Amino acid sequence: MHFLVLGTAAGGGLPQWNCGCDNCRMARVEGSGLSPQTQSSIAVSVDGENWAILNASPDIRQQIGDNRQLHPRALRHSPIRSVVVTNGDIDHISGLLVLREKQAFELFMTEALAAIIEDNPVFDALDPAFVARRTIALDSAFPLLPGLDAKLFAVPGKVPLFLEGAEPEIGIEGEQTIGIELTAGDRRAYYIPGCAALTETLSARIDGADLLLFDGTLFTDDEMLVSGTGQKTGRRMGHMPIDGAGGSLEALSSLSIKRKIYVHINNTNPIWRQGPARDKVFNAGFEVGHDGMEISLARDP
Ligand code: MLT
Ligand code: MN
Ligand code: ZN
Repeated sequence: MHFLVLGTAAGGGLPQWNCGCDNCRMARVEGSGLSPQTQSSIAVSVDGENWAILNASPDIRQQIGDNRQLHPRALRHSPIRSVVVTNGDIDHISGLLVLREKQAFELFMTEALAAIIEDNPVFDALDPAFVARRTIALDSAFPLLPGLDAKLFAVPGKVPLFLEGAEPEIGIEGEQTIGIELTAGDRRAYYIPGCAALTETLSARIDGADLLLFDGTLFTDDEMLVSGTGQKTGRRMGHMPIDGAGGSLEALSSLSIKRKIYVHINNTNPIWRQGPARDKVFNAGFEVGHDGMEISLARDP
C-alpha cells in the first residue's frame, strides 16, 4: 500500500484566507519554516497505476497538479479510479465538483452521505454516465481498487456544520462520520480524519494496525477560544483534542500501532511548528503529516 498525503490541513487550510494567527502569518512567508498546507485528503494505491482518493478537498485541483502520480497518462485520462468521503463537511466533498470533467470513477459513500450529495443539485454536475455512485453499508468489505479492500465503519462524530441545528448531537455513531479500513495482503491501515471520541470498539478495531492516519485538528480542546479565532471547543466541532484528559495522545497510547500520523490539522494547531507541543507528539511516538508525505507499507517477503 502506498499513500500520498495530498492535504494535511483541516477545513480552511494553512494559511486560511481570513486568518492572521501565528501559524497562518508564518505560512505566508517563504523560508519561515512553515510551508502552506492544503485541505484534508489522502491518495492510496497498491500498484502505483490505479489510485483512490480519500476525501475530495476543495484544493484537489492543486493536489493533483502537485503529485505526478495522479497526472493523466493519455489525452483524456486519470489514474484516479475511486473516491471515498468520510463525512459531508465542505472540506471533504466540495472537491467532487472539481472532478466533473466527464471522467469515469466510482464514488463510494454511506447512504447518509450519499443523501447529502443527492440533496444538493450542484453535485448533478458529476454526470452519472461517468461517475458511479456506490452506496456502501457499514462494516462490509468492498474492493476500492484492484488488490485493495476497504471497509467503512462508524466513528463518533456529528452531522456536517452546514446541517447543524440549534443543538446538534455530538458523538453520534452512524453513517455521518466514518473511518476507512484498508487491507492489502497482510497489511492493515486506517484513515480517521474526524473523531469525537475513541470508544472501546474503535480502539479494539485499530489495535495492531500497520498505519493510522488520525484526527489532529486541535492540540488543546479550547485552542480556538484561547487564541481568539473561534467560539467552539474541538469536541463541539466533533474533534477530540490531541492533548489533555481523553485526548488522542492518551487514548491511543496503550494501542500497538506501527505508525501513527496526525492529519486534518487546524491552522491554529501548535504542532505545525517547532516547540513543546510538537515535541510532545513526537516523544509519544506520533508523526505530524505534511503535504507531499509518502508512506509505503510493504508486504512481508
Ligand atoms: C470540520 O472538520 O470541523 C469541518 O471541516 C468544519 C468546516 O466545514 O468548516
Ligand atoms: Mn474538516
Ligand atoms: Zn490561522
